[in-house]
Amino acid sequence: MYQVYPRSFADASGDGIGDLAGIVDRLDHLAWLGVDAVWLSPVFRSPMRDYGYDVADYRDIDPVFGSLADVDRLVAEAHGRGLRVLLDFVPNHTSSDHAWFVDARSSRDSAHREWYIWRDPAPGGGPPNDLESQFGGPAWTFDEPTGQYWYHSFLPEQPELDWRNPAVREAMLGHVRFWFERGIDGFRIDVLWMIAKDDAPWRDGPITEAPEALPGLGLEARGALQHGDGPDMEARLAELRDAADAYPERVLIGEVYMEPRRLVRYYGRDGRGAHLPFNFALVTLPWEAGAIRTAVAAYEDALPVGAWPNWVLGNHDQPRVASRVGAAQARVAAMLLLTLRGTPTLYYGDELGLPDVPVPSERSVDVAGRDPERSPMPWTRDGINAGFSVAEPWLPMIDDAGAWSVEAQRDDPRSMLSLHRRLLALRRSEPALEAGDWADVDAPDGVVAFERVAGGRRFLIALNLRPEPVSMPVAGDWTVELSTHLDRDGEPVADVVALRADEGLVLRAG
Ligand code: GLC
Repeated sequence: MYQVYPRSFADASGDGIGDLAGIVDRLDHLAWLGVDAVWLSPVFRSPMRDYGYDVADYRDIDPVFGSLADVDRLVAEAHGRGLRVLLDFVPNHTSSDHAWFVDARSSRDSAHREWYIWRDPAPGGGPPNDLESQFGGPAWTFDEPTGQYWYHSFLPEQPELDWRNPAVREAMLGHVRFWFERGIDGFRIDVLWMIAKDDAPWRDGPITEAPEALPGLGLEARGALQHGDGPDMEARLAELRDAADAYPERVLIGEVYMEPRRLVRYYGRDGRGAHLPFNFALVTLPWEAGAIRTAVAAYEDALPVGAWPNWVLGNHDQPRVASRVGAAQARVAAMLLLTLRGTPTLYYGDELGLPDVPVPSERSVDVAGRDPERSPMPWTRDGINAGFSVAEPWLPMIDDAGAWSVEAQRDDPRSMLSLHRRLLALRRSEPALEAGDWADVDAPDGVVAFERVAGGRRFLIALNLRPEPVSMPVAGDWTVELSTHLDRDGEPVADVVALRADEGLVLRAG
């Protein structure tokens, strides 16, 4: 899976903002790279206060990205190259510009009033409780004319839908079907855990406990989880899954920030849930061998029978992996992502090793400071703005963008891009890596090691997470299939393997 942040991928219209036609122009890159599917962050009509995660019309495309016809063309062109296309479904909240909310605010008796979450002021006045929004400030905004507060986990302009209301469910599932009918292959579902509220913490008094903040949105928020992950979750998941299963080969990915034992709930009761509830362990954990080994084992152990795992290294809400772990370890991280058991999700630009790009305050645009991980993709060595756009890009390009570009790295057999392409090709050609069993392997401090096995083929992956060399005993004879340094192909290894500083190896038995 490859995540495209459409504003920053490729600009065909020449306004400095990426668009659907730009993505079509660059599908050959994705096919060449070797991914199977593309997920687009939201492209629906939106006032863009949260850059598309505030939808004003679920069935139309924002003009900045193009039109419905452009989506159809993108799907056809992608399918023609064997690529699937997923859109981003934002079910928990709409934009305050959405016609439903405009109507909801118009009076307490309006047709859509109960589609959102309203509460009277607290007895002495003020918000009903002290829940805070993920973006800071109270999670309640007062609507003067109707005398009640509406609820929002994010911006006030992202009022939250009440999924207990059957009319909301019917309308939202209708949107899902609309896109499936149009040929979309699946959805990434935004803040999936929030559509089943848990009433308990709403009932009385202040919320004082902070069991788990929502990492990555960068802010500590009390009650981040209390007002989601509620008792109706299984029912909500089953309805979404039924909508997907009414069509052949559709996939549902859920955004869920939770520890493994709670996360697996999102596979649904009897598998009637998301196919892939995002597993963010590699994003949220410290980059340390012990922590990673424990987390991989805990996740594998928590998976229900028949559930397919998945792994993520980055997304549009998180500092980029190359900035979190450094350039050398980013190569090791890529090898880990692409050799663990399960579907990997690659964030655009991470295949180039892009770090976060600092954005001066006068150009900063995101409400939660996430601009650095959303910088425009560099495509060409010499073009204006490295081929991203002929106009000034909406966010600054990385310095020396041409040298980071796809074009520059394609020709370099040792580049980060070449490493990704080789890892993807290897997974595709080796069933043991694509779908084989996984088992942890004992390793020296600072090393993550595991085996992948299927049908008589056996691979040992050994990853040195430290900037100094280390030797690891390995039983039997092996051959280097791939090094993160891309310079040891075919080297025989017996009894002990020498890992250089920041080196990862894929070894083939025999
Ligand atoms: C998700 C999105 C994030 C957005 C938030 C509100 O976490 O990934 O970008 O701001 O939901 O929709």
